[in-house]
Amino acid sequence: MALAPIVLDSDPGLDDALALQYLLGTGLWDLKAYTAVGGNAPVEQAFRNARGLARAFGVDGDVPVHRGADRTISRVDSASDFHGPTGLGEEVLPDSKEPDQDEPAPAALVRLSREYEGELTVVATGPLTNVAAALLLDPGTAHRVRRLVFMGGAAQVPGNCTPLAEFNVWADPDAADIVVSSGIPYTMVGLDATHGWRFTHEDLARLDAAGPGQELTARFVRAYLKAYDANHRQSSCPLHDPLAVGVAADESFVTTGTGTVAVECASELGRGQTVYLPEDKAVRFNYPPHILARTRHTGRVALGTGPRDFSAHFTETLLRRPSL
Ligand code: BDR
Ligand code: CA
Repeated sequence: MALAPIVLDSDPGLDDALALQYLLGTGLWDLKAYTAVGGNAPVEQAFRNARGLARAFGVDGDVPVHRGADRTISRVDSASDFHGPTGLGEEVLPDSKEPDQDEPAPAALVRLSREYEGELTVVATGPLTNVAAALLLDPGTAHRVRRLVFMGGAAQVPGNCTPLAEFNVWADPDAADIVVSSGIPYTMVGLDATHGWRFTHEDLARLDAAGPGQELTARFVRAYLKAYDANHRQSSCPLHDPLAVGVAADESFVTTGTGTVAVECASELGRGQTVYLPEDKAVRFNYPPHILARTRHTGRVALGTGPRDFSAHFTETLLRRPSL
């Protein structure tokens, strides 16, 4: 059976790197492009990281890596040092052996949505800058993509970079707003679900025991665990980005609701808040008509962990896909 076409749009990023390894390990997808976006690192660094990861995980030359939009739609400063000095902890990976792609990420997304109309899945694990730029280039992209699954937002739980906002949405709120109001079929995988599926020191011990093929991955995880300990006083780390990839293939890793996501773009204090309006006809929201008009577009929103154990499946899958 032909594998399903997918694009991974990512701001690597420690958990973004794990998401790539996991995606390749599932054996379920034909990765048509790996597109880099600024977020955990500035866009040029994210692009270099993505090229290095393509090489490290054995897809150099098979999967084109595209540089992302050179500025956010919101024009906000979103620099973050949570993922360490290079965005991959302290790791500086050997570069891809391939020449740089000329085609920017948003143009590649539009082209692939045409080539694989009705079939293409897009998973976004960073700010939604590239996806929004693709929709601005060609709004028809929204109707050609089979499904966009994005890691971002917090529907009914607090944020992680402000009390109200999750990092990916906070980093480019206007981009997120463009995406969720475009009509693209989307699933938002936010903190409501990602905080429930975690990676522990016991899981890390399994990688350590697996030998040289998991050494790079173990270094990523070690740096990520350290960041969660230092910044959040947590002894395990959430599987944010890998979960979005998992949900693209199997929604039973999460529970979901259907409704509208409205993104707060105008307020300094509330920037990046994702206001979730469930599609429950019994609920009446006391908003003015121009806000209520947004409920024309709905999406699926992950609201918690589902019956299938993502943490166990994730570790098993990584162990099947060592780095070179
Ligand atoms: C998201 O922010 C980034 O730090 C992670 O890579 C993930 O995509 C979690 O809020
Ligand atoms: Ca990310």
